[in-house]
Amino acid sequence: MRGGEGWTRPWWRGAVFYEVYVRSFADSNDDGIGDLPGVTSRLDYLKRLGVDAIWVTPFYPSPQKDHGYDVADYYDVNPEYGTLQDFDQLIQSAHERRLQVLVDLVPNHTSDQHPWFRAALSSPDDPHRALYYFADGKPDGSPPNNWESAFGGPAWTKDESSGQWYLHLFAPEQPDLNWWNPDVPKEFEKILRFWLDRGADGYRIDVASALFKRKDLADQPMVKDPMTGQAKPDATFAIIDQPPVHEVYRRWREIVNGYRPDRVLVGEIFEPQRQSRYILPDQLNMAFALIRAKWDASLWKRSIDVDRHALHGPGQMPSWTVSNHDVVRQVTRLGGGFVGRQRARAALLLLLGLPGQVFLYQGGELGLEEVNLPDDARQDPFFFHSGGKQRGRDGCRVPLPWHKGQPNAGFSKAAPWLPMPAGWDDFAVDAQAGMAESMLVFHQRVLALRRPLSGSLPNDFKWCPAPEGVLVYERGPFRVAVNFLARPVELSSRGRLLIATNPMVRRRADRLSLPPNSGAWLDLAGGI
Ligand code: NOJ
Ligand code: CA
Repeated sequence: MRGGEGWTRPWWRGAVFYEVYVRSFADSNDDGIGDLPGVTSRLDYLKRLGVDAIWVTPFYPSPQKDHGYDVADYYDVNPEYGTLQDFDQLIQSAHERRLQVLVDLVPNHTSDQHPWFRAALSSPDDPHRALYYFADGKPDGSPPNNWESAFGGPAWTKDESSGQWYLHLFAPEQPDLNWWNPDVPKEFEKILRFWLDRGADGYRIDVASALFKRKDLADQPMVKDPMTGQAKPDATFAIIDQPPVHEVYRRWREIVNGYRPDRVLVGEIFEPQRQSRYILPDQLNMAFALIRAKWDASLWKRSIDVDRHALHGPGQMPSWTVSNHDVVRQVTRLGGGFVGRQRARAALLLLLGLPGQVFLYQGGELGLEEVNLPDDARQDPFFFHSGGKQRGRDGCRVPLPWHKGQPNAGFSKAAPWLPMPAGWDDFAVDAQAGMAESMLVFHQRVLALRRPLSGSLPNDFKWCPAPEGVLVYERGPFRVAVNFLARPVELSSRGRLLIATNPMVRRRADRLSLPPNSGAWLDLAGGI
């Protein structure tokens, strides 16, 4: 049973996961902020949608400087989001519906309000300093090295009382933990057990490859950017991704297997070249194959191939995804409006026909677009730390519209934490449910069709010859065809149409007609 695989196929192979961004999903007490009882109240919606599992973003006590990815207490629930009993209720209700629940674990950094960091700042001699990276600056008064924060600016902030600097790869309110100190892994084993004991089915691990930084804290060499001609830090110089991180995941695998071998560990690792060192029977089950290519057949084909060839373990297939709470919404990326939505449907057929897991992000099933929020409504630290140059990630985090015609689209009676644009309720769940051509019903139909296929079709696929601008692949008797072009195409194809992105897709005689930006699933054997 090593690595969670027994004689039978574990539930997560080929499963569909749905990311719940708690703050924006559903608000149970009308304070404008989504919460855990809100999630519980909408589990039937998720079940009807057809997902197997949810990944719930961080709900721990937190000053919310990075919306929960700055954890002040790993063993509790933020009062804004509910209580530990609400968490237990969520687990129980999810399990009653045969939905699995992944908790988001944030091991790379704590909040600056975590008791460890507060103690660390209390005195230059405090032993808690060893749990973080504190270092002296350079003789010229600059930070210890030239590392940059992912949110812009130096990755170091000066602790004025001691004159030393501390490291934060993200916001200054998110100091990085020093995993070389054995007390850090020890604490996280406790945290891991805490939520497993409460019934969690696994974890999504935040910034999973970054836990250990290179010990010498050396400057990243500068290289010339071929595009701009300007000097920039050499990204191939490894400051993260240090070998002992694998020991940590081997240990976590053992712990998780000790509960039930089919509990899953999902690493937030996007770079395909890193994944094969982590996605192994004795470490993590999966990472993300995030496809953000622009709408071009050859770019999508290349991205899919890079991701599928990145994994080497037996039977391993990528976990396909197109969006999450950190990236511009897919419909907007693909051109916005009607065209963007048609392309998003076609992309869904393309990816959901592939072997592997799928991660959906809330609101994708409603066809929501990125919202261009006014500056004074923005909350993302990325926006502030870049001096407004980066628009930040609030635009994909606007709360979900549930009811047409209700204030705030039925999300809350109070003003939501991010304002909803006018007309947002046109996308509401109740406006789309039961509407044959809606984005929501399309998602429900695709997921319902996919369910029996994912266990019965071969765990592999092959590309078929197709005209430029069109992708066609087959998995045994199952064929997927997508037209990326702005003009219709006719392909020679047999088979029965299982589903298509729009009603103008036709299968007649030995032809398949694909209108612009459309796609189809076909059954070649008549038995699927
Ligand atoms: C990745 C999370 O998805 C993102 O929202 C967060 O800002 C960073 N990790 C830092 O925790
Ligand atoms: Ca609430």
